[in-house]
Amino acid sequence: MRSLWFLAVVLAALGGCRGSEQAAQCPGAVAVQKRIDCHPQPGASREACEARGCVWCSAGASNAPWCFFPEDSPYGYARSGSAQQTDKGWRVTLNKRQALSLFGNDISPIVLEVEFQTKDRLRFRLYDPNKQRFEVPLKIDGPGVTAEEANYEVEFSDDSSRFRIKRKSTGTVLWDSPLVDLFFSNQFLEITTTVPSTSVYGFGEHEHPTFKHNMDFVTYGMYARDQPPTSFANLYGVHPFYMCVEPDSNAHGVLLLNANAQDVTLSPNPSLTFRTIGGILDFYLFMGPTPENVVQQYTEAIGRPHMPAYWSLGFQLSRYGYNSLDALKATVDRMKHYDIPYDVQHYDIDYMERHLDFTYDKVNFAGLPEFMKELKKNGKHNVVILDPFVTKDEEPGTYRPYELGQEMGVWVNNSDGVTPALGQIWPPGYSVFPDFTNPRTVEWWTTLCLEFKDVLDYDGIWIDMNEPANFMRGQLPGCADTEINNPPYTPSITDRSLAEKTLCPDSKTYLGDHYNTHSLFGWSQTEPTFNVVQQATGKRAFVLARSTFVGSGKHGGHWLGDNFSLWKDLHHSIIGILEFNLFGIPYVGADICGFNYNTTYELCLRWMQLGSFYPFSRNHNSIENIEQDPAVFGDTFAEISRDTLRIRYSLLPYLYTLFYESHVYGGTVVRSLMHEFTSDQETHGIDTAFLWGPAFMIAPVLEEATRSVSVYFPEAQWFDYYTVLPSAWKKTYTTVSAPLNKIPLYIRGGYILPQQAPATTTTESRLNPFGLIIALDEEGQASGSLFWDDGDSIDTIEKENYFLAKYTFSNVSGNIQDTYLHGGRCNLV
Ligand code: NOJ
Repeated sequence: MRSLWFLAVVLAALGGCRGSEQAAQCPGAVAVQKRIDCHPQPGASREACEARGCVWCSAGASNAPWCFFPEDSPYGYARSGSAQQTDKGWRVTLNKRQALSLFGNDISPIVLEVEFQTKDRLRFRLYDPNKQRFEVPLKIDGPGVTAEEANYEVEFSDDSSRFRIKRKSTGTVLWDSPLVDLFFSNQFLEITTTVPSTSVYGFGEHEHPTFKHNMDFVTYGMYARDQPPTSFANLYGVHPFYMCVEPDSNAHGVLLLNANAQDVTLSPNPSLTFRTIGGILDFYLFMGPTPENVVQQYTEAIGRPHMPAYWSLGFQLSRYGYNSLDALKATVDRMKHYDIPYDVQHYDIDYMERHLDFTYDKVNFAGLPEFMKELKKNGKHNVVILDPFVTKDEEPGTYRPYELGQEMGVWVNNSDGVTPALGQIWPPGYSVFPDFTNPRTVEWWTTLCLEFKDVLDYDGIWIDMNEPANFMRGQLPGCADTEINNPPYTPSITDRSLAEKTLCPDSKTYLGDHYNTHSLFGWSQTEPTFNVVQQATGKRAFVLARSTFVGSGKHGGHWLGDNFSLWKDLHHSIIGILEFNLFGIPYVGADICGFNYNTTYELCLRWMQLGSFYPFSRNHNSIENIEQDPAVFGDTFAEISRDTLRIRYSLLPYLYTLFYESHVYGGTVVRSLMHEFTSDQETHGIDTAFLWGPAFMIAPVLEEATRSVSVYFPEAQWFDYYTVLPSAWKKTYTTVSAPLNKIPLYIRGGYILPQQAPATTTTESRLNPFGLIIALDEEGQASGSLFWDDGDSIDTIEKENYFLAKYTFSNVSGNIQDTYLHGGRCNLV
């Protein structure tokens, strides 16, 4: 211990030395950790840097920018005059300080307006008072509270050079933005704030290598993109939301409600620099103080997650490239042979005739309508994929989706606002793109989805490729060389191109330029799809969306996209599901066994074990890869998968209750250990294990040829799920055994988990006897609840057509361990 302390002191001293060496090498420079990039676009050079009035210095930390703003930066804004009272707060005018400009077309004056929306939610936004700029069409409002009622304090520093927000109860500064670091031009907006700690989580959609962010000058771009999960790349959705745990374990969250292409740099100061190329800087701060409170407050603002149907918590099978109904049937048969729990079958684009939406292949999938009905009769459910592009090149009079859409004028148009944008994707020929921000498109989509229900009796719709994806760089004939297509600053996104694999930014949608609405494409498709699925089925909707935005969870779930059959992707999937739970999209999972590449026996088996505990549990595979359903690898694999899925199925009443709570109160379904044990710093960086709600820990094997896991047990009484024995482990890592047939699972004392005997489908398991797992804490207490309804009616909650039990247990006498055993399993059989 002493030597560790000594080492820490020496390292700190060395760090200090490096700092002063640094200062010597970069005269007049700001401390390395405080550098803000003055040349965020590629191609920085000393000349370009100095021409901007910035400092060029290559010494310092390896990731630090070499071109950065000096201490006395000539940029930014200054406050002008005193604050004016408004309905819910106040506003001040800010004027640009000097003529220098980073990217041209600076706007001055701008207004900083503060709205005290609720006692735990503050909105502050920076906008142009003289011109309406694009704003995301998601209204977040609150009744308004007085400054005294609010749990936050908003102030300027004495010299008015900084804008700050503090937590009233502790004085912790949550937000601190120097006005000299503020930029507001037509196509470049930037703001920097310090954050109170490096325990920062969120921002999406990316494949993050760790749940807790690395803040060593890491930049994440956000712009919807059809791109397999790749570290540091912008992926399918956009979620400019983060949560930060303060040094005293209070947590807060911040949303930047902006849909334009953007990036954020996380710096060691610690600070965050947000850059976006359009719209306004529209921030919302959520005060927590627990991580769960933060997510509850966030979803109160953006929309609570939808209540999923019970059947959608069952295991699901999919693959791109069954290629025939016979192949699909063979899979279903072997699943049946091994009696592996399985509720939902997905149909990827190969069910379609030549990849045409709203058709099915009557040769290779002859008999599909009857087959789907048969599955349904056996208690299963069916989900069909639909893509957001429609070929225009079918014989006239033969393809109604195109002709009706053409007649109704529902497509995204070229910059002329009249001719439809043409891209090339799955269907033959050139395709047009439905503009879901247009109410006429919603009408068109609703009509076609309703008609299609008579062809294929679906229970849910999977909306794919809605970034929107396009296999070209922009539409035909390419994008004009204009400022909107090639802005002076392109955020740190793949290819530094706004048109690559999608449409040109100057395309026209109902809500305005695609430049502003691009990342809202999938979001705007999700709600109408949710509504039409409800209308078509008369039941709770299932919508699985690839591209999501702030608030998508209200109408849909998400899978993490085209991952790879690699061990690292197995680990990253945990980070992804934890993040989407922060984003208010708790119905989330990754493709089990991996989508791209061939899987292997061991990886797929470990993935079946972990995936059995994804909220959305689906094995999905890409075309031409070897089959990877859990019944294809032989007896042992099938038995292990069956056993693990039976654990999932037995705990579905608990999972369903968590979804009910998330739907009604906001909050997460799957949580990190940090989320529950926030004051234990050790938990802050853990992303190899996770929890269902507060009480059930999943600690999967994530490495090849490994038969044990090092599990961190935070301060609580933990019970081994299998042996039901209480463990002695507390605040310590323990190596637990995990042979191939086992995924380590633990129950937290103090909780009661409802369960039900498993079966092959939820249709059957819902009829089985219930049980309770009663896991006592050290005081001999436990509590929990069960939400139960018919599982798929649309409005059981609104109509109060449900059963809600609250259980408490107090072990007045007797042995804790016995009670757990008796209360735990005896009711199950
Ligand atoms: C891309 C999706 O991400 C993937 O899941 C699907 O299988 C293919 N498109 C084909 O539809």
